[in-house]
Amino acid sequence: MTPLPIRPRRLRSSASMRRLVAQTSLEPRHLVLPMFVADGRDEPHPIASMPGVVQHSMDSLRAAAAEAVAAGVGGLMLFGVPTPESKDDIGSAADDSEGILNRALRALRADLGEDTVLMADTCLDEFTDHGHCGVLDAGGRVDNDATLARYVSMALAQARAGAHLLGPSGMMDGQVGAIREALDANGYSEVGILAYTAKYASAFYGPFREAVGSTLSGDRRTYQQDPANRDEAMRELAHDLAEGADIVMVKPAMSYLDIVRDVAQVADVPVAAYQISGEYSMITAAADRGWIDRDAAIVESVTAIRRAGASIVLTYWATELADRLL
Ligand code: PBG
Repeated sequence: MTPLPIRPRRLRSSASMRRLVAQTSLEPRHLVLPMFVADGRDEPHPIASMPGVVQHSMDSLRAAAAEAVAAGVGGLMLFGVPTPESKDDIGSAADDSEGILNRALRALRADLGEDTVLMADTCLDEFTDHGHCGVLDAGGRVDNDATLARYVSMALAQARAGAHLLGPSGMMDGQVGAIREALDANGYSEVGILAYTAKYASAFYGPFREAVGSTLSGDRRTYQQDPANRDEAMRELAHDLAEGADIVMVKPAMSYLDIVRDVAQVADVPVAAYQISGEYSMITAAADRGWIDRDAAIVESVTAIRRAGASIVLTYWATELADRLL
């Protein structure tokens, strides 16, 4: 035998050895389940581009939320799908206390109380008839400051409905500060902000557009970040932290692990990453064709996101993974 004192394989020699030295772990509490609830549905409605994910009815939402919490997930992130008729140019159903998202938040908070962390998407795109994350000016461009006023109203409605954490996902300048100020001025200083800090204009959101019945034509490149840019994420991070973000998020996750890493190295708050619809659907589709091992790919992908530096991972597999990990 050649003398070879350094043999890294020794630490990979058995499952128990690998378990002993594993640096990254996955626990149910690290996982947040994004959920869709649709107005006017009596039954859960499958999302064709995300096999296994549904638009919930209020009843099925409550059941699935209870199941996720029983499995030990760290939290729930809620998205509302309004009826097409209720969409308008300012997204009126978003801050209507009887809008689908606010009704669902009230129902889940009543069911679950403090047993989970209830989060809400604070963004207009599901609610606007043009499908943009903000309101438009006379020239048809997304108007940053007019949008902030809408976000503030939506944030207050969600706080009133019982959300613990608000997730502004529209990438408007100043969104975290505007929401923080309004929450504090209205007696909601205990409601936190999970900021979508570095959100990229990604093709991998494709399936989500079906999931929420988006009417967007065009793209979000005037507000979401250019996938070519890295430094910009750090600039967004500095602003979100200064504006009072409690948790910062990078999105998507798998194509942006370098950004997750960059953010985790400097942020002094917890870092989240969102394994988005396209990431879910790619793994699901490849597994359906027998091209990859589904269960192994799920664990590997979420572990990699944690390894990059995310303490919290939003994933459509949260309940399933939590069940497997228990
Ligand atoms: C915007 C929003 C989007 C997602 C979460 N919040 C869509 C977008 O920016 O186009 C995408 C989530 C996913 O793809 O799973 N409210």
